[in-house]
Amino acid sequence: MIPQRMIDEVRQGTDIIDIVSDYVKLNPSGRHYKALSPFTQEKTPSFIVSPDKQIYKCFSSGKGGNVFSFVMEMEKVTFPEAVELLAKRAGIDVSKYTDTAARQEEKREDSRHETLRWAARLFNTTLESDAGKKAYAYLSANRGLEAGTIRKFGLGYAPDSWDFLLNAAAKEKIPVEHLTELGLLTRHRLKESLYDTLRHRVIFPIMTIGGQVTGFGGRTLSSDPETPKYINSPESAIFEKSKLLYGMHAAKEAIRKQETAILVEGYMDVIALHQAGFSNAVASCGTSLTRYQAKILKRYTSRVLFLYDGDNAGKKSMFAGIDILLSEGLTPWVVMLPGAEDPDSFIRTRGKEEFENVLESEKSSFQDFQIRCYRDAGYMESPDLASKAVSAMTKSISLIADPVQKELYIEELSKKLDISRKTLTKVMASGGAEQRHPREPMSGKNEEAPAAPPVQNTPLSVSERTFLEALLESTFYGNEVLAFAASHDQMLRLSNHPAQAIFTHLVSRYRTISGDKEAHIDIAAEISSIELPQARDLALDILFRLPVSETSRPNPTETAQHARRCLSHFLIAVKTIVLEPLQKEKAALLSKLSGTPEKSEEKTLFTRLHELNNQIRTMDQEVTGSINTILEA
Ligand code: UTP
Ligand code: MN
Repeated sequence: MIPQRMIDEVRQGTDIIDIVSDYVKLNPSGRHYKALSPFTQEKTPSFIVSPDKQIYKCFSSGKGGNVFSFVMEMEKVTFPEAVELLAKRAGIDVSKYTDTAARQEEKREDSRHETLRWAARLFNTTLESDAGKKAYAYLSANRGLEAGTIRKFGLGYAPDSWDFLLNAAAKEKIPVEHLTELGLLTRHRLKESLYDTLRHRVIFPIMTIGGQVTGFGGRTLSSDPETPKYINSPESAIFEKSKLLYGMHAAKEAIRKQETAILVEGYMDVIALHQAGFSNAVASCGTSLTRYQAKILKRYTSRVLFLYDGDNAGKKSMFAGIDILLSEGLTPWVVMLPGAEDPDSFIRTRGKEEFENVLESEKSSFQDFQIRCYRDAGYMESPDLASKAVSAMTKSISLIADPVQKELYIEELSKKLDISRKTLTKVMASGGAEQRHPREPMSGKNEEAPAAPPVQNTPLSVSERTFLEALLESTFYGNEVLAFAASHDQMLRLSNHPAQAIFTHLVSRYRTISGDKEAHIDIAAEISSIELPQARDLALDILFRLPVSETSRPNPTETAQHARRCLSHFLIAVKTIVLEPLQKEKAALLSKLSGTPEKSEEKTLFTRLHELNNQIRTMDQEVTGSINTILEA
């Protein structure tokens, strides 16, 4: 968690115009700046930045936000990373916000990364030296790699020695504990001595998305069948294989541009594809795709093309990967390579033109791929197996969130298998029900407690919009409106959920600063902290449409006038919001009474009407009273 004070300081030390100009050419247009959107390919500028409000909006993609979300989007970094980047740029020393324990951990990590970098460089220079001649010849002659490719991926060689790294580390005063922790040195169980883990292997440094070395994969050059083909860095806090995609740092731009990622199994596949010009390839490194990896991909694209080995293991991994991608909102595609080829061997033996042809001709939707696999395995020939296959395929469809896509896939499946849509929908529904209600035989109660009924979400009403407009605008002029809102928040229930979320957020933020007379809420920074995405969008939308406030040239008289205007608009909206539901109920009651209700019912209706009238009167007095005192103050 980054302290809000740090977020505020960084936001205020940063000018959005300055930051955005690093990426696109801004042209002044009235009180705004305009540019071609950096998020889409467009010919007419629809990207607007407001220097007064310190926010932007791209009207063609609908994306908008503050300086933090802009950097997150452009650099594909997380919120904390964006804050840090901007702090650095603004020259803000954020060390006062981070506690010492965390700092020390960070320093430790820094030096571990340095050790990793050192080892990667050492392996790489060794490959290009005399000691690496054989390995180099293997890579270029046997595996067809060009010098530029070897350099681009920083490939290396670990010589056939028990103490090559050990000695080099001693010479360079590299802490041996680091190398042990990172798995580069192994402790001998009996002799208590250390030796090199990677021996006589080609080294594939594995990088983070940002291009930092984080671990290694080493492929053996020995033909001894006892030797494992690959040895990878052991799992640690620094190296989590399940959260990495090999080649991502080199592929991210191409993935974004081509709007597709090619997903392969191995290190060599990634490298061969990049060399052949398919620089949107990444590998899940032999394991099947994880949710985390899917989330990384989703930051860059929504389409993923599986290009795994055509063997059974590869098929199984793709089956699992398809469901993970679907449930993360990505669209999987599959290409099956002929025979026992993997992408690397295919390109090497048949050339890139033929590879490109196969990509085109063999590409199938995930559903066609599933049907084909089940058909090939004979599932469609017997009713009981077919039923299993159908229920697995509808389960995949049920993972898709988009209702239109879901329907289209059901329709496709229905046509292809000649099973009615109705039946498929039924199968899908029963599969879904099973998932939602896992059997818990050990729990005492059989019945799950029913979930609380969802509170009705209604569209934003006019008074709710006025309420929010006044609330947001008021933050430019002071805390008066917030103070009123905070002391009456029990009374105020907005029936539009995003609106309520914005309100709750601002009130709770106000409470944390209300002791400090000087403190005020920086609304542009606050947008990042609103959790509900719809609420964030709504806040941004309202903020964008607000009449421009000249915050850059504050003028006390004008500010006071603005503050007053906001406050009165706000109070009028409050009154409507508080009284509206009561008035509505009253109207409904009156219309029932004007019909001819039975005697007993008539009586309860009248009692309720009486109550309501009282409630309306007291509420009205209370709110009007508050409004008068605050407006007279
Ligand atoms: P493969 O066995 O298909 O190897 O494993 P490969 O990548 O085609 O390698 P070459 O072409 O024989 O040189 C695919 C991936 O699975 C992981 C590696 O990431 C490898 O690239 N793997 C495989 C391991 O991590 N350990 C192993 O022992 C084997
Ligand atoms: Mn291979």
